[in-house]
Amino acid sequence: MENVILIGFMGCGKTTVGLRLSYRLRRTVIDTDKEIEREEKRTISDIFAADGEAYFRDRETDCLKKLSGNTAGQIISVGGGLPLREENRRLLHELGQVFYLRAKGETIYERLKDDNTRPLLQGDDPLTKIRTLLDERDPYYREAADVVIAVDGKSFEQILDEIEEKVK
Ligand code: S3P
Repeated sequence: MENVILIGFMGCGKTTVGLRLSYRLRRTVIDTDKEIEREEKRTISDIFAADGEAYFRDRETDCLKKLSGNTAGQIISVGGGLPLREENRRLLHELGQVFYLRAKGETIYERLKDDNTRPLLQGDDPLTKIRTLLDERDPYYREAADVVIAVDGKSFEQILDEIEEKVK
């Protein structure tokens, strides 16, 4: 059984969709951010503050390499920036069927406006930051994806139905 992999921008719902899908499909779920926090014994914000983004990106690639060959039939949700590295896109492709949860900037902003756990979105004008990053990243997400699911205005049930229909 292939893994189901969830990618997309921060706040698009990967973690929640991953959890709910795991109940529906009776599969276990892994989240790369949580794996990294567990291994590093500190939060993503602490990792960014102490060692910088480049260090974190290397940990993401390490994490994917560890999952490769070690997982089957699981649900894997990955950090929003992980698919930007070409090597990571290749590893994702080898790891399973990739679903891109595509959300608009406004949807993401509404979900994350009170969040302080995403170091990349802290600052004066998060909506502009979200829009800029989203424009930059969308092509990479599309390149990495086998299936694109538009999530704006949909309930989790609808999103899960759409994913389930496409799962191999
Ligand atoms: C990031 C997304 C975060 C986390 C880190 C960087 C990004 O994960 O990996 O803050 O670059 O988009 P989520 O997508 O789960 O929020």
